[in-house]
Amino acid sequence: MSTQTCTIAGFHVPKNAFTFVNVYSIRRERGVWERADEFWQERFLVKSVDVQGQDFELLPFGSGRRACAGMQLGLKTVQLLVSNLVHAFDWSFVPGKPSEDYLLRECHGTINWIKTPLQVCVVPRTSS
Ligand code: HEM
Repeated sequence: MSTQTCTIAGFHVPKNAFTFVNVYSIRRERGVWERADEFWQERFLVKSVDVQGQDFELLPFGSGRRACAGMQLGLKTVQLLVSNLVHAFDWSFVPGKPSEDYLLRECHGTINWIKTPLQVCVVPRTSS
Protein backbone atom coordinates (compact mmCIF):
# COMPACT_ATOMS: atom_id res chain seq x y z
CA MET A 1 0.00 0.00 0.00
CA SER A 2 1.41 3.37 -0.96
CA THR A 3 2.37 5.45 2.07
CA GLN A 4 2.09 8.74 0.18
CA THR A 5 0.65 10.16 -3.01
CA CYS A 6 3.14 9.88 -5.84
CA THR A 7 3.54 9.66 -9.59
CA ILE A 8 5.18 6.61 -11.14
CA ALA A 9 5.90 6.58 -14.87
CA GLY A 10 3.22 9.24 -15.38
CA PHE A 11 0.58 7.41 -13.34
CA HIS A 12 -0.99 9.10 -10.35
CA VAL A 13 -0.91 6.80 -7.30
CA PRO A 14 -2.95 8.15 -4.37
CA LYS A 15 -1.93 7.61 -0.78
CA ASN A 16 -3.15 4.29 0.69
CA ALA A 17 -3.75 2.71 -2.74
CA PHE A 18 -3.19 -1.03 -2.97
CA THR A 19 -0.60 -1.60 -5.66
CA PHE A 20 0.42 -4.79 -7.38
CA VAL A 21 3.62 -5.24 -9.32
CA ASN A 22 2.88 -6.79 -12.70
CA VAL A 23 5.70 -9.31 -12.70
CA TYR A 24 4.34 -11.07 -15.79
CA SER A 25 4.65 -7.89 -17.83
CA ILE A 26 8.04 -6.89 -16.43
CA ARG A 27 9.50 -10.25 -17.39
CA ARG A 28 8.37 -9.87 -20.99
CA GLU A 29 9.38 -6.26 -21.65
CA ARG A 30 10.84 -6.49 -25.13
CA GLY A 31 13.02 -3.38 -24.90
CA VAL A 32 14.73 -4.83 -21.82
CA TRP A 33 14.98 -8.56 -22.39
CA GLU A 34 16.63 -10.41 -25.21
CA ARG A 35 14.38 -13.34 -26.30
CA ALA A 36 11.77 -11.94 -23.89
CA ASP A 37 9.23 -14.76 -24.29
CA GLU A 38 11.66 -17.63 -23.91
CA PHE A 39 12.57 -19.72 -20.89
CA TRP A 40 16.27 -19.11 -21.35
CA GLN A 41 18.01 -19.23 -17.99
CA GLU A 42 21.39 -18.98 -19.68
CA ARG A 43 20.70 -15.29 -20.18
CA PHE A 44 22.20 -14.81 -16.73
CA LEU A 45 25.37 -16.72 -17.58
CA VAL A 46 26.40 -14.67 -20.59
CA LYS A 47 26.96 -11.56 -18.50
CA SER A 48 28.00 -10.86 -14.97
CA VAL A 49 24.92 -10.49 -12.74
CA ASP A 50 25.02 -10.06 -8.99
CA VAL A 51 22.29 -12.06 -7.22
CA GLN A 52 22.50 -10.12 -3.98
CA GLY A 53 20.22 -7.28 -4.90
CA GLN A 54 22.46 -4.95 -6.88
CA ASP A 55 21.38 -5.96 -10.40
CA PHE A 56 17.64 -5.72 -10.87
CA GLU A 57 17.51 -8.31 -13.66
CA LEU A 58 17.82 -11.12 -11.14
CA LEU A 59 16.52 -10.70 -7.61
CA PRO A 60 16.14 -14.12 -5.96
CA PHE A 61 16.47 -12.47 -2.55
CA GLY A 62 14.75 -9.19 -3.29
CA SER A 63 16.58 -5.90 -2.86
CA GLY A 64 16.87 -2.96 -0.51
CA ARG A 65 15.77 -2.72 3.09
CA ARG A 66 13.30 -5.61 2.91
CA ALA A 67 15.64 -7.99 1.11
CA CYS A 68 16.02 -11.54 2.43
CA ALA A 69 17.53 -11.56 5.90
CA GLY A 70 18.89 -15.08 5.37
CA MET A 71 20.56 -14.44 2.01
CA GLN A 72 24.06 -15.58 3.00
CA LEU A 73 22.73 -18.73 4.68
CA GLY A 74 20.50 -19.38 1.66
CA LEU A 75 23.37 -19.02 -0.81
CA LYS A 76 25.63 -21.33 1.20
CA THR A 77 22.88 -23.90 1.76
CA VAL A 78 22.03 -24.09 -1.95
CA GLN A 79 25.72 -24.30 -2.89
CA LEU A 80 26.29 -27.09 -0.34
CA LEU A 81 23.22 -29.03 -1.48
CA VAL A 82 24.00 -28.81 -5.19
CA SER A 83 27.71 -29.59 -4.77
CA ASN A 84 26.87 -32.64 -2.64
CA LEU A 85 24.37 -33.90 -5.22
CA VAL A 86 26.90 -33.45 -8.04
CA HIS A 87 29.73 -35.01 -6.00
CA ALA A 88 27.86 -38.01 -4.61
CA PHE A 89 25.73 -39.14 -7.58
CA ASP A 90 26.02 -39.85 -11.28
CA TRP A 91 23.16 -38.20 -13.15
CA SER A 92 21.81 -39.26 -16.52
CA PHE A 93 18.66 -39.03 -18.57
CA VAL A 94 16.22 -41.97 -18.49
CA PRO A 95 17.24 -44.32 -21.36
CA GLY A 96 14.78 -44.54 -24.23
CA LYS A 97 12.97 -41.33 -23.46
CA PRO A 98 12.65 -39.02 -26.45
CA SER A 99 15.12 -36.21 -26.04
CA GLU A 100 12.50 -33.49 -26.54
CA ASP A 101 10.99 -34.62 -23.23
CA TYR A 102 13.94 -33.01 -21.57
CA LEU A 103 13.75 -29.69 -23.25
CA LEU A 104 12.78 -27.01 -20.83
CA ARG A 105 9.57 -26.04 -22.54
CA GLU A 106 7.44 -24.00 -20.23
CA CYS A 107 3.83 -23.51 -19.26
CA HIS A 108 2.97 -19.84 -18.92
CA GLY A 109 1.48 -18.39 -15.78
CA THR A 110 2.43 -15.86 -13.15
CA ILE A 111 5.62 -17.83 -13.02
CA ASN A 112 6.85 -20.31 -15.62
CA TRP A 113 6.56 -24.04 -15.00
CA ILE A 114 8.50 -26.76 -16.69
CA LYS A 115 6.11 -28.41 -19.19
CA THR A 116 7.39 -31.98 -18.98
CA PRO A 117 8.45 -33.13 -15.52
CA LEU A 118 12.18 -33.81 -15.65
CA GLN A 119 13.05 -37.47 -15.03
CA VAL A 120 16.62 -38.55 -14.42
CA CYS A 121 18.50 -41.65 -13.29
CA VAL A 122 20.52 -41.12 -10.13
CA VAL A 123 23.24 -43.58 -9.11
CA PRO A 124 25.29 -43.17 -5.91
CA ARG A 125 29.02 -43.05 -6.63
CA THR A 126 30.42 -42.66 -3.15
CA SER A 127 30.45 -45.44 -0.58
CA SER A 128 28.56 -43.41 2.01
C1 HEM B 1 17.89 -19.78 -1.34
C2 HEM B 1 17.23 -19.47 -0.23
C3 HEM B 1 16.36 -18.23 -0.05
C4 HEM B 1 15.74 -17.44 -0.97
C5 HEM B 1 15.76 -17.57 -2.50
C6 HEM B 1 15.04 -16.39 -0.25
C7 HEM B 1 14.30 -15.37 -0.84
C8 HEM B 1 13.65 -14.37 -0.15
C9 HEM B 1 12.89 -13.31 -0.75
C10 HEM B 1 12.64 -13.15 -2.27
C11 HEM B 1 12.43 -12.52 0.22
C12 HEM B 1 11.55 -11.26 0.06
C13 HEM B 1 12.43 -10.05 -0.19
C14 HEM B 1 11.61 -8.82 -0.52
O1 HEM B 1 10.50 -8.67 0.01
O2 HEM B 1 12.09 -8.00 -1.31
C15 HEM B 1 12.90 -13.05 1.49
C16 HEM B 1 12.65 -12.50 2.71
C17 HEM B 1 13.11 -13.01 3.89
N1 HEM B 1 13.90 -14.12 4.06
FE1 HEM B 1 14.61 -15.31 2.59
N2 HEM B 1 15.24 -16.55 1.09
C18 HEM B 1 16.05 -17.66 1.26
C19 HEM B 1 16.52 -18.17 2.45
C20 HEM B 1 16.28 -17.62 3.70
C21 HEM B 1 16.82 -18.15 4.94
C22 HEM B 1 17.74 -19.37 5.04
C23 HEM B 1 16.34 -17.34 5.92
C24 HEM B 1 16.56 -17.39 7.43
C25 HEM B 1 17.36 -18.23 8.02
C26 HEM B 1 15.51 -16.30 5.32
C27 HEM B 1 14.87 -15.30 5.99
C28 HEM B 1 14.14 -14.29 5.40
C29 HEM B 1 13.47 -13.23 6.14
C30 HEM B 1 13.47 -13.04 7.66
C31 HEM B 1 12.83 -12.43 5.20
C32 HEM B 1 11.99 -11.18 5.47
C33 HEM B 1 12.88 -9.94 5.41
C34 HEM B 1 12.05 -8.68 5.62
O3 HEM B 1 10.91 -8.64 5.19
O4 HEM B 1 12.58 -7.72 6.20
N3 HEM B 1 15.51 -16.51 3.96
N4 HEM B 1 13.66 -14.18 1.22
